[in-house]
Amino acid sequence: MTMTPEVIIETRNLTKVYRDFWGRKKVQALKALDLQVHRGEIFGLLGPNGSGKTTTIKLLLGLLFPTEGDALIFNEPTSNVTKNERIGYLPEESYLYKFLNAEETLQFYGRLFKIPASERNKRVGQLIDMVGLSGAKHRQLREYSKGMQRRIGLAQALINNPELILLDEPTSGLDPIGTAEIKELIRDLREQGKTVVLSGHLLADMQDICDRIAILHRGELKELGKVSDLLTVQDVTQVKVRNLPPAALEEVRQVIQRHGGEDLTIDHPTTTLEELFLRIVRESELHPGRRKVAGDRVESPKPAATPELAESRSTS
Ligand SMILES: Nc1ncnc2c1ncn2[C@@H]1O[C@H](COP(=O)(O)OP(=O)(O)OP(=O)(O)O)[C@@H](O)[C@H]1O
Ligand SMILES: [Mg+2]
Repeated sequence: MTMTPEVIIETRNLTKVYRDFWGRKKVQALKALDLQVHRGEIFGLLGPNGSGKTTTIKLLLGLLFPTEGDALIFNEPTSNVTKNERIGYLPEESYLYKFLNAEETLQFYGRLFKIPASERNKRVGQLIDMVGLSGAKHRQLREYSKGMQRRIGLAQALINNPELILLDEPTSGLDPIGTAEIKELIRDLREQGKTVVLSGHLLADMQDICDRIAILHRGELKELGKVSDLLTVQDVTQVKVRNLPPAALEEVRQVIQRHGGEDLTIDHPTTTLEELFLRIVRESELHPGRRKVAGDRVESPKPAATPELAESRSTS
């Protein structure tokens, strides 16, 4: 039995043409977009710069008016502002007040949403912890690095405990560790039953977090589907095995030939640069001081290299 998923966002023929000062047609940023986002999924809007991701998100929030078509959120037209209480939004660029610190920022937005003081204080503390800014919560945002700004922006987007969260390039400006942490946070949100729509242009960033993605190019939807389906090369079978003896490998080769399989390659799977980088940094945090040298053996630090030690040895 397949249950029909609950539709949280629906767009029909959603179209946006930006006009210039005199009302002349300028850029067709989004062309007849039809899509549905389901409750509890992480949905990715993927596309190169200028493909219409931000435009789509702003249309969904009711920050822009569509030229044609419409969008429904929670089955209501996007022009209905009361739905915004159930939505969290991280804009592409930070718009937060630079002279407030993290705590003040979240308190401010908490008050805007009229969250009672005790609940607000609790959430502010939790969110600051969650995005990893506890050590910097009393510093003004103008001192924040790009990654820290993304984190406080994400915390702000969650202050009203929204059901639906729209994140416009949540990992832009973040290093691979920061990116991995934000992705983990986004997965936690899905665990809590929330629906997340996020945009990005890095396939590697999107592929392991999104349940489904829409690929936009020049305002047109090019592809829509489950990431696993989109990335599977249907006519290629990959067999992975550890410690297979050479004789068995030869037999496998013969079986495949007997069944008429074509273009057999048996090779070792590669890892992505991102995975490699993450592993290296994590290992280095576990074993400080250990380093990999050109000869490619992992070395421990050599204490004997200091002059005092060399001297004491020569006198003994
Ligand atoms: N206010 C505006 N006035 C005129 N044209 C605009 C405006 N905002 C966006 N555009 C144009 O609409 C198109 C889509 O822009 P949009 O910002 O939605 O792209 P994007 O996918 O978010 O890109 P990026 O990855 O760079 O953020 C682009 O051609 C852009 O130049
Ligand atoms: Mg954008």
